Parts: sequence; structure tokens; C-alpha cells
Amino acid sequence: MTDIEKILEIKKEMGEDLLILAHHYQSDDIVKTADLVGDSLKLAQYAQQNKRAKYIVFCGVYFMSETADILTEDWQKVLQPAIIAGCPMADMADMEQAEKAWDIVTEELGCEIVPITYVNSKAEVKAFCGKRGGTTVTSGNAAKVVEWGLKQNKVILFLPDQNLGRNTAYDLGIDIDHMAEYDPKTEKLEYSCDKKDVKIVLWKGFCHVHHKIDMKHIEDARKAHPDAKIIVHPECRFEIAQAADGKGSTEYLIAQVKNGEKGSKWIVGTEHNLVKRLKDTYTDKSVYILDTSSVCTNMNKTTVSNLLETLEDIQKGNFEKQVIVDKEIAKDALKSLETMLSLA
Ligand code: 13P
Ligand code: SF4
Repeated sequence: MTDIEKILEIKKEMGEDLLILAHHYQSDDIVKTADLVGDSLKLAQYAQQNKRAKYIVFCGVYFMSETADILTEDWQKVLQPAIIAGCPMADMADMEQAEKAWDIVTEELGCEIVPITYVNSKAEVKAFCGKRGGTTVTSGNAAKVVEWGLKQNKVILFLPDQNLGRNTAYDLGIDIDHMAEYDPKTEKLEYSCDKKDVKIVLWKGFCHVHHKIDMKHIEDARKAHPDAKIIVHPECRFEIAQAADGKGSTEYLIAQVKNGEKGSKWIVGTEHNLVKRLKDTYTDKSVYILDTSSVCTNMNKTTVSNLLETLEDIQKGNFEKQVIVDKEIAKDALKSLETMLSLA
């Protein structure tokens, strides 16, 4: 029996007690064995809605499993096959830094703040937002959530991804000059407008996979395939998002290719596993990757072998790979996630 066959066998034995969730950036083998596949928003919703599975095995990165743990019941266990798979961007902000930023921004701008954190963040940062009337956001609902923040007539503190914050706020009509930047390392707030005109403070975090896509990739792609449409994830830098023909969450990128006309050409700026799957799935269209080095090594830490090991561990009553968020943190983080899910 192959490892995949063994996984399928265990799934049959465990039935509804087991739910395997996988992010779109996972490899084909993992996606094939998963019960549900989605972007961060969908996966959070799937975890919240499932009230049957005793064990939720999350094929993704740590912040996603933490979110699932926060959104599920106490009797449900969330396990992550590659327990060491984190997200370098989520690690760019912690509670202590966020509290410091809150004090600095409040003092310098003399304003009220509403904090909004990308779900790609630590549970403690979500708790920081929950405690202060803020919320979480994903790339799939960014416009709705940032609009909600802007309507409060407070300055948004958007963390940790400056690119998602900048791209979204710009689309909602906020001038680039009215966006400040906050560097958690130097604890400096920078802006070029009058302080009363600052609408959003962007934490200087980024996803290295998307942030490294540059104008040369766009120029080369346009030259190689002049009749193709370039679409990118909003974690890409502002100039890339502007130069592309479209931008949006993972689900948006999939929908564009899926619904594109037969024979259409697509150049996609995001993680390579997803782009490869789009290419293999929609063979009536041509799909290319914008930057061949777009590989998230953390997403790729989940393998068929550590997934099988996790399932076998569950059957033996070994929960070493369980992700558990501290109860106090979870309580406040839940507030921020619930606000987002009510807006989504
Ligand atoms: P999505 O919100 O589109 O799923 O993206 C998550 C992610 O980690 C992208 O790098
Ligand atoms: Fe984090 Fe970027 Fe990997 Fe997504 S692609 S998990 S944001 S490092």
C-alpha cells in the first residue's frame, strides 16, 4: 500500500471524526487527500462551521492552525502535520511590538485607532486587535474589512502586511500620501502629509514570496506573452499590483483562470503549487507563473509522510502535533475573528 492509500484507508475508518483541511498552496498529493481545500478565509469558515470532527488536521502554516483552534469547540483538536511550518510574515509582529506601536501612533498623531490584522499573524496579535475593538482581515475580504475600519473615522493600524494594506486602501480611494508607515524595528512612524490627514498606518511587514516579485518579472512576462493577462496576489508590492491586469486573493486568482475564455492566457503571480495546479487543471487555457521562484518553503513542509504519521498518531492517541492557543489569548483573538466573519 502507498502512503496515499494508507491515508485514504484511515480516512474511511475515522469517517466524520476526521476533517483534513488544506490551503491551495499545498502540493497536489496533499490536496488530493484533503476533504476541503481553500484560501485562508474559506478554511477559517470551514473550521468554524464543522461541529462533527473530533480531529481537524490542518495542512497549512501555523497561523492557520491557530485560527482553526480558536474557531473550533474545546472538544475538537487541531493538528498540524508539519508543526514547524510557520509564516515569516506572521513573525514580523508580536503583541509587545503592537502595544508599543499603539502608544507611538496615538501620541504622534493624537488620534483614535482601530487595529486590523491580516489573519497571517500570531494569535496574540489577533488578541491585541480583539481587545481594542479591531478585527482580522484576509485577502478575500480586505475591501469590506478596511471599508468597515475607514467608516469609524479612526486611523487604521494595519498589520503586519504593508502591501495588502496599501493595495486595499488605495482601491478604496485613500491617497498614497495619506498612508503612514510604521517600522517595528526602529519604532519610527513616517508620513509625508499633515498628521490630521493620515488615514491608515501600514506596519512594515511583508511576505517574502510575493514581495520579491519585481517590475522586471512584469516586463519579461509582457514581452514573452503580450496577449496574456497578468494577475497577482495582493501581497505583491503596490507597483506590481498597479502594473498587473488584476489582483486578488487565491480564490480570485483561481476564479479568473477558471472562468477565462477557452484559449486565453494567464500569467499568475503567486505560490508555484497553485499556479502549477491551475495549469494542469485548465488545459484549455495557457497558464504561466510570473516569478518561477515563488515558492513558500513553509507551505511545502507538509508531506504525505508527515500527514500519514499525524493520522497514525491520532489513532494511537498521540497528540504531539496538536496546536493549542492559550485560553486568554484565544478569548480576545476570537472577538477579532468573529467581527471579520460577520463582515465576510
Ligand atoms: P490567501 O488569503 O489568499 O489564502 O493567502 C494566504 C497566504 O498565506 C498567502 O500568502
Ligand atoms: Fe506566509 Fe507568504 Fe508563505 Fe503565505 S506565502 S504562508 S504569507 S510566507
